[in-house]
Amino acid sequence: MKINGISYRSVWRPSDDDRSIRIFDQTRFPWTVEILELRDAGAVADAITTMQVRGAPLIGAVAAYGLVFALQDDASDAGLNQAADMLIATRPTAINLRWAIERMVARLESVPAPERVTAGYAEADAICDEDVQVNEAIGRHGLDLIREIWERKGRQGQVNLLTHCNAGWIATVDWGTALAPIYMAHDEGIPVHVWVDETRPRNQGSLLTAWELGSHGVPHTVIADNAGGHYMQAGRVDMVIVGTDRVTAQGDVANKIGTYLKALAAQDNNVPFWVALPSSTIDWRVRDGVKEIPIEERSGDEVLFMTGLDADGNADRVRIAPVGSPAANPAFDVTPARLVSGLITERGRCEASETGLRTLFPDTP
Ligand code: MRU
Repeated sequence: MKINGISYRSVWRPSDDDRSIRIFDQTRFPWTVEILELRDAGAVADAITTMQVRGAPLIGAVAAYGLVFALQDDASDAGLNQAADMLIATRPTAINLRWAIERMVARLESVPAPERVTAGYAEADAICDEDVQVNEAIGRHGLDLIREIWERKGRQGQVNLLTHCNAGWIATVDWGTALAPIYMAHDEGIPVHVWVDETRPRNQGSLLTAWELGSHGVPHTVIADNAGGHYMQAGRVDMVIVGTDRVTAQGDVANKIGTYLKALAAQDNNVPFWVALPSSTIDWRVRDGVKEIPIEERSGDEVLFMTGLDADGNADRVRIAPVGSPAANPAFDVTPARLVSGLITERGRCEASETGLRTLFPDTP
C-alpha cells in the first residue's frame, strides 16, 4: 500500500545482504510516519511488546526476523530454542506469532548451524511474501461478499461496513485481512463506507484504521465503541467484518476486546458478522476459545490515559480517570462460533465450525 504515493510493505529488508529490517513505528501513526531499524532479537521483542509492531500476521513476520537476528549471535540448537521461547512469550493471544516461530524452527533445526542465518532469512522472506499473497486472496473472497450485498441493494446507496480494531495493511505485511476486501471493493468502484470503531483502550480504530482508509480514499466515519449497536438497529450497517488473532478448530474467534459485543449486537439485528483470517491464524490445537485461548492482560495505564494531539500538534498523554482508581485491561475477547456468520480465508469462505474449516483445510493434520 502507499504512503504519500510511495509503495511500502509494513516490514522490509533494505537489501538482500542487509542484516536488519525496517518497520513503521505504529505508536506514532497517524501523527508521524516514523521508520524504525531493527537489527537484534531484543529490539524485535521490545517492538512487539510495546506494540510498535502489532496485528497478528505482522507480529509473526517480524518475529521470524528476530529469530534470525538471534542466530547471528548464536546459531546453536540451544540458541535457536532459547530465542524461539523468548519471542513467543512477547504476546500470548495472537497465534500467528507461535506459528511463524514454529515454522522457522522446523525449517532450521535440520540445517547445519553455520548455514542457519542464510536459510533463516530466506524463510522469513518467504513468510512475508506468502502473507501478501494470502491477504490478496482473502481480499478477493471478501470482495465477492461485498459485491453480493451491493447487488442485493440494487446497486443503490452505499455498502455500509463496520470494523473493529485495525486489520489493515499495517497489521499484516500488506493488504490486511478485514480491510483487504474493502480496499478492493473501493478500487472496483463499489461505494463502500466504513464505520470505524475507535477501539479503546489503544484506539487502533481511530488512530490506525481511520488513517489507513483515509490514505486510500475510502469513505469512513469514526464512532465510539458503544455506537455500533445503535447504527445496526437503525439499519445502517450491512455487514460487520473484523480480523482475528486466533481461531479455534471449532471456529471460535479471539479478537480485540469489544469484538464480542459487536457480534452480539449484530446477531440481535440480523447483521452478518464475518471474520477474515489467514490459515496461520487457525489454532487447530484448541477447540473452546473461551476456556482455552490465553487473553493478554495489558497495563491498566492504557485505560487510565489517552494520547492525542495538543494545541501545538505534539502527541500528548492525558489521564482520564481519578488518580488512585485501578484499571483492568484484557486486550482481547472471544466471540463464540455461533455468533459468527462465516470465515473468509485465503481458500474461500466457510462456516465458523469444525466442519466448515475442515472442508477448506482437509490437508491440515
Ligand atoms: O493488539 P493488536 O493491535 O495487535 O490487536 C490487533 C487485532 O486485534 C487485529 O484485529 C488482529 O490482529 C487481526 S490483524 C490482521
